[in-house]
Amino acid sequence: MYRINRAFSRTLAALLPLLAACQRQDGIQQQQKPIAAAAAPADSGAQASHDFNPRLLRRFSPVRASIESPEHPLTADKIALGRALYFDKRLSKNQDVSCNSCHQLDAYGVDGEATSLGDKGQRGGRNSPTVYNAAGYFAQFWDGRATDVEQQAKGPILNPKEMAMPSPDAVVARLKAISGYRELFSKAFPDAAEPVTYDNVGVAIGAFERKLVTPSRWDKYLSGDKHALHDEELEGLKVFTNVGCMVCHTGEFLGGTSYQRVGAVEPWPNQADSGREGLTKNAADRMMFKVPTLRNIQKTAPYFHDGSAKTLDQAVRMMGKHQLGLELSDNEVSAIVAWLGSLTGELPKAYIAAPVLPGTGVANKGPT
Ligand code: HEC
Ligand code: HEC
Repeated sequence: MYRINRAFSRTLAALLPLLAACQRQDGIQQQQKPIAAAAAPADSGAQASHDFNPRLLRRFSPVRASIESPEHPLTADKIALGRALYFDKRLSKNQDVSCNSCHQLDAYGVDGEATSLGDKGQRGGRNSPTVYNAAGYFAQFWDGRATDVEQQAKGPILNPKEMAMPSPDAVVARLKAISGYRELFSKAFPDAAEPVTYDNVGVAIGAFERKLVTPSRWDKYLSGDKHALHDEELEGLKVFTNVGCMVCHTGEFLGGTSYQRVGAVEPWPNQADSGREGLTKNAADRMMFKVPTLRNIQKTAPYFHDGSAKTLDQAVRMMGKHQLGLELSDNEVSAIVAWLGSLTGELPKAYIAAPVLPGTGVANKGPT
């Protein structure tokens, strides 16, 4: 059994109103202030566990089947184009890196590296997050520097350490030289005078990503199937909500709704990357990162922006210590880890099958 502490529960109760501020509002939300760190409880001894308040479950919601946006309506043709672009290494300078190299769709959207390998085997500075469910976050990237997946997708193609294309024009020229792509763009953007544009590359890849969702047992549970979670998982859910993890990891994705300071209570060991401060140049944003999703977390090691935790056990312990000032017991950690396993979803196998890439023009090296 885990310990629950009254004083701490009160602290949590005081924090709960803040949760409302963390929730997505109209899909856009710019919460940037760190939530006041909950003080570590002075241990007042073991306390029998009570059932967690079922009202807390309202802070979560089942994942949608597709993450639509009014701005970017989905069509089958856009998605088909986006899928081809996602898998196509010809979108990189040396035709050896695609989106799927670092976000492998059959491996839960990650590459398993602490930091990713890009053009010429160069390592970037951050861990590659999963693309599954990412379309639903309030902002993209660890530091939120892109607003949505459509905008995000235009970043890595030009990033010198990732796909290293020299300019948007170079991407468009390369795509236009492939007759199969000219056709796919015309179908995907039938009303456009000039369908092959760099913006449309982003729009199409974004459309593909909007259906990269992974429903799991957790969603069954939230939809009313109380047998979808077993006892240890339920215990883990209780610990998770009681100690305060859900203050930051909340909503449909158990993350992706706010920026928070990593090391809110105890400074993060690795201060090399200062997070949003690098973007805003505002000292108040030091070590602020977007709270990542916990969906599929069991499958997306290593963890954190710096890839500094190799196992989920270690990641959960570090969160307890650095975000909440708590030394979680072994039982608490294993219960949380068990519950996190219920967030592993089903991969949409048919949807993510590597497509036949459009031919002619530039040598087609095939999908990743
Ligand atoms: C060389 C490896 C690499 C390649 C290639 C790459 N990415 Fe990424 N991706 C990353 C890394 C690393 C990050 C995190 C960077 C950051 O936050 O600063 C990231 C972030 C993202 C995110 C944000 C997810 C989140 O949690 O905010 C999405 C979505 C994404 N990439 C999609 C793509 C798409 C689409 C492509 C192809 C156009 C692509 N990536 C190509 C490594 C890569
Ligand atoms: C004050 C806000 C806050 C609280 C409370 C919090 N987290 Fe986090 N969590 C974050 C942030 C921010 C990150 C990203 C940190 C980074 O990589 O820089 C994160 C990252 C994680 C990760 C790694 C995700 C990944 O993809 O790499 C896990 C796992 C995690 N948290 C679990 C938990 C658990 C379990 C608890 C409760 C014991 C918890 N968190 C409490 C804000 C919080």
